[in-house]
Order: sequence, then structure tokens, then C-alpha cells
Amino acid sequence: MAILNSTLAFLVLAFAFFFCYVMSSGSYDYFQFVQQWPPTNCRVRIKRPCSNPRPLQYFTIHGLWPSNYSNPTMPSNCNGTQFKMQNLFPYLRSRLKMSWPDVESGNDTKFWEGEWNKHGTCSERILNIMQYFQRSQAMWKSHNITEILKNASIVPHPTQTWKYSDIVSPIKSATGRTPLLRCKQDKSTQLLHEVVFCYDYNAIKQIDCNRTAGCGKQRDISFQ
Ligand SMILES: *[C@@H]1O[C@H](CO)[C@@H](O)[C@H](O)[C@H]1NC(C)=O
Ligand SMILES: *[C@@H]1O[C@H](CO)[C@@H](O)[C@H](O)[C@H]1NC(C)=O
Ligand SMILES: *[C@@H]1O[C@H](CO)[C@@H](O)[C@H](O)[C@H]1NC(C)=O
Ligand SMILES: *[C@@H]1O[C@H](CO)[C@@H](O)[C@H](O)[C@H]1NC(C)=O
Ligand SMILES: *[C@@H]1O[C@H](CO)[C@@H](O)[C@H](O)[C@H]1NC(C)=O
Ligand SMILES: *[C@@H]1O[C@H](CO)[C@@H](O)[C@H](O)[C@H]1NC(C)=O
Repeated sequence: MAILNSTLAFLVLAFAFFFCYVMSSGSYDYFQFVQQWPPTNCRVRIKRPCSNPRPLQYFTIHGLWPSNYSNPTMPSNCNGTQFKMQNLFPYLRSRLKMSWPDVESGNDTKFWEGEWNKHGTCSERILNIMQYFQRSQAMWKSHNITEILKNASIVPHPTQTWKYSDIVSPIKSATGRTPLLRCKQDKSTQLLHEVVFCYDYNAIKQIDCNRTAGCGKQRDISFQ
């Protein structure tokens, strides 16, 4: 009986530790890889303008977010290693300055730090700091959204608008997977802001995104 009790106590304890570990390290089903159109970031920032008055004219990385299908609130700020610049090799830093700049305040390091500490810590069991940024860089390189849209004659224009499906369709043809579009409201216009690619649990295989919110699907989208 004593043996049984201690075994039981051990099992309960082991489970409790396992549970705590899972909770603290965050749990997720898949990744959202989010790229943004810098001119839209800057247009909707009225109070504090972007540090560079002429925003970059190509899609840049916003972040790689471990996400959960059943819980729309993403796991965030998990208990993991905190970001240090020294974790990134110099060659990678110089590439990230192109692909993952802070288009708003101009402090790239601070942007990377914020994204890692908020999101990256929640998938640290799969991607450590270096791998998290390397994988994101590779995802950015794998499909050039700016070029995909350009080839479909979707280029920044002050008045022309597109349907949600007009923009999704060339991206879907090029990648073989359904992306998700996110918009920002600017007065009565909805501006294309972000394109999301979804990846499996290991951040290797691109999969279809199946979330719906993002842009009002029935409304025209402006790309400026
Ligand atoms: C997703 O979130 C729900 C609710 O917080 C949680 O119960 C579930 O374990 C999470 N799923 C995964 C795979 O982590
Ligand atoms: C994780 O949380 C535990 C308990 O709250 C704490 O002791 C530990 O220092 C934390 N680890 C990190 C890397 O933050
Ligand atoms: C940029 O952000 C990093 C990390 O938060 C900080 O250490 C550094 O002082 C900032 N640089 C400037 C110029 O503000
Ligand atoms: C992506 O495509 C755009 C438009 O064709 C081009 O200007 C840009 O250099 C490309 N970026 C990369 C990293 O190839
Ligand atoms: C865009 O079109 C050019 C010229 O036809 C082609 O070389 C390039 O591969 C296309 N890029 C994409 C991403 O489809
Ligand atoms: C999206 O796909 C996942 C995995 O196939 C599934 O579990 C989830 O229910 C789907 N969500 C919606 C809104 O279709």
C-alpha cells in the first residue's frame, strides 16, 4: 500500500511538473509568418511618424508567431531565454536588416527583441533564437510577395482597388497554399497591410491558412 501510495504521489508530481512545463513553454498548433507592407504601417501612424519618411517599397517581416487554432489569442511572453544580440551571427544580422527592419521607430534590434520575447519564447523547444531568425529569413526568401503581386499587376496605386480574392489568388498560385490577408482601416478605406503564410508545427512545411478575419472580405482593398 505504501509503495502504491508513493508511486501514485510520484505520478501526480511528475504530471504536475509536466503540466507546468507545457504551460510555461507555451503550446501552439502552427506558425503564422507575417509580412507587412511598410507604407501602410507609416500611413496609419499619425501621432508618431515613421523614422524614415520614405518607407521601404517591399514586404518586410513582421514576425513568426506560434499560434493556436482553438484559441485566437496567441500564446505570448512564454517563460524562455530572453533575446540577446550576441545570439545572432553577424552575417544573419546584416540579412535581417534588409528583411526584418523596424520600419516604424528604426531600431531593428529592439524590434527583433520584442518579437522573440513575445512570440519566439513560445516555440523555443522547436526553434532556438538563432534558428527562429534563420528560419524566418529563409521563409522571407522563399517567396517574394512584392514580385508575385507585381507580376499579377497588383502594384501600389492611389485609387485602384482589388477584391480580396484578386490579391490572394496570385499568391496562392505561386506558393500552392492559401495565405491570409490583414488590412488596416484608414478613414473609409481598407488598406492592404499584411500577408500571412502558415506553417506546420515544426515551421518547415507551408500549409493553408484557414483563419477568416483580417480584411473585410466583402469590401474592396486598396494597396498604396
Ligand atoms: C490552444 O489553446 C487552448 C485554450 O487556451 C488550450 O486548451 C490548448 O491546449 C491549446 N492547444 C495547443 C495545441 O496548445
Ligand atoms: C521560468 O519560470 C521559473 C518559475 O517561475 C523561474 O524560476 C525561471 O527562472 C524561469 N526561467 C526563465 C528562463 O525565465
Ligand atoms: C535599440 O534597442 C536596443 C534593444 O532594446 C537598445 O539596447 C538600444 O539602446 C536601442 N538603440 C537606440 C539607438 O535607441
Ligand atoms: C522582390 O521583388 C521586388 C520586385 O520585383 C524586387 O524589387 C526585390 O529586389 C525582390 N527582393 C528580393 C529579396 O529578391
Ligand atoms: C515574375 O515575372 C518574371 C518575368 O516574367 C519571372 O521571371 C519571375 O519568375 C516572376 N516571379 C514570380 C515570383 O512569379
Ligand atoms: C483549421 O485547420 C485546423 C487543422 O486542420 C483545424 O483543426 C481547424 O479547426 C481549422 N479551423 C477552421 C476555422 O477551419
